[in-house]
Amino acid sequence: MTSVTLPAHAKLNLTLDILRRRPDGYHDLQMVMQSVSLHDDVTVSLTDGNGISCRCGEIPGDESNLAVKAARAFFAETGIPPRALEIDIVKRIPAQAGMAGGSTDGAAVLRALRTLLRPELATQELERIGALVGSDVPYCVRGGTALAEGRGERLTTMTDAPAFHAVLCKPDFAVSTPVLFSRVRVDELHGRPDTAGMLASLRAGDAAGVLARVRNVFEEVLPEDCGEVFAIKERLLDLGADAAAMTGSGPTVFGLFRGEAAAQAAYATLSRAYRQTFLTRFV
Ligand code: C5P
Repeated sequence: MTSVTLPAHAKLNLTLDILRRRPDGYHDLQMVMQSVSLHDDVTVSLTDGNGISCRCGEIPGDESNLAVKAARAFFAETGIPPRALEIDIVKRIPAQAGMAGGSTDGAAVLRALRTLLRPELATQELERIGALVGSDVPYCVRGGTALAEGRGERLTTMTDAPAFHAVLCKPDFAVSTPVLFSRVRVDELHGRPDTAGMLASLRAGDAAGVLARVRNVFEEVLPEDCGEVFAIKERLLDLGADAAAMTGSGPTVFGLFRGEAAAQAAYATLSRAYRQTFLTRFV
């Protein structure tokens, strides 16, 4: 086998809390993560050429691309002699959107290289390598419903969340993750999510409890010119969403729906106003 194609799923934050700033400049977080059906397709091929080439739609496939960083980290950490690779990414997840679009491609490269070169490598080891690539990469290796703590790399798999439908809507601007973190004064945050309640609701399969606890503390520190995030949230709720929040460091907003028909109707309406609107479901 010389080539593997894998889906690389986007994630949503059902909750996102910031606990403290750490001496290393990162923040300790508590996040309940959920993968959704929106995905890139990542093909990794072993070639006879030289080095690593990466095609990633309109996103540069250079050394800054997390897919390339992941491939380099895989060889450096496993000790497997570096091989020439072609990485080909069919990109659907918007970049800089709070959906881990880059991290999930990096995670898919790690999983593909494991399949191609070292099938016996434990997932835990792949997640450890992922943490060297980016804070969200370990979660993207694992997927599903999970609690992510620490920088985001300490994972606990949860009972699968109820099978909600999610309408995702990204306004046409980007929010820089480091800039948003720099706006956080941990002691001044007030709208913290009830993470313990969310985890209890997940364990109990309590759909209403999960929906009631969807919350992202980053919404509190958005710059003033990001008001559209709140406008989209209101719009989703008006259109019948059972919960709505921003995901990650934004600016994508998601609405959760118990029923598919309501999600489809909201998607049809919102996609007329916003180019980057997606109809997805939890996976
Ligand atoms: O780990 P990653 O490269 O994805 O993080 C991007 C930036 O986000 C970091 O440089 C840091 O500024 C911020 N960050 C943070 N705390 C985390 C994760 C990311 O402050 N837990």
